[in-house]
Amino acid sequence: MSNIILLGPPGAGKGTLAKQLIAVYKIPHISTGDMFREAIKNGEPLGRLAASYINEGHLVPDEVTIGIVRERLSQPDCANGYLLDGFPRTLVQAAALDTIGSDLGRPINVVINIACSENELVRRISGRRVCRKCGTPYHIETMKPKVEGVCDVCGGELFQRKDDTKESFLVRLGHYYNETKPLENFYKELGLLHEIDGGTGVQKSLKAAQKIIDEVTK
Ligand code: AP5
Repeated sequence: MSNIILLGPPGAGKGTLAKQLIAVYKIPHISTGDMFREAIKNGEPLGRLAASYINEGHLVPDEVTIGIVRERLSQPDCANGYLLDGFPRTLVQAAALDTIGSDLGRPINVVINIACSENELVRRISGRRVCRKCGTPYHIETMKPKVEGVCDVCGGELFQRKDDTKESFLVRLGHYYNETKPLENFYKELGLLHEIDGGTGVQKSLKAAQKIIDEVTK
């Protein structure tokens, strides 16, 4: 069974790799960022709360994020594996996930950390476009859709995320270094951490991640 976390800075390619891995392993993709954006789109109270943090690049409070993940992981479709993208992001969230995984009998068994240079992150974030309907990410130079502005997967409209401004990105990167990067040690000590080079192109990243997952879960 594959209970996977994808770790990495904003723009490292977590969402892109997640979409490919879930197609291979047939497990649900749980992206806290996508969950918050969906709640914002639907005008839910959670969305109103999350928007005030996300648009400025800040982290949504731990208790809110942990609550939605606990609820999501308890769903029946997570019984045969799941892939977390964007969670955990703080040591408090990682400790909570440990408890949730034990409570549900669905503990994490592999953590893949996607390494990427800061210059490349800036290039990716500033050129990213995302499908409004299905969330598939594109890039205006390196991952273009077949028809400009239109999603290849579902025909939805492509747009630029509000938090993909330079100002917001720098705030997100600061949170990453201060709060999320320490998770590398947390998972290293648990013997769960594996690293891949996220700067080598999508297909190579996918192959490297598959090799790790297949080795761990064989
Ligand atoms: P979230 O949506 O999780 O954003 P993020 O972590 O900042 O990550 P991104 O979505 O920006 O990047 P990514 O790594 O998925 O890269 P992508 O695949 O798109 O979170 C957004 C916000 O929600 C947070 O800032 C916070 O406010 C809140 N939030 C979410 N989770 C939370 C939590 N746990 N606690 C508190 N708050 C939380 O790729 C980027 C670009 O690069 C794309 O254009 C893509 O086409 C391109 N690309 C991808 N891979 C490659 C590759 N291998 N080669 C070349 N180009 C590539």
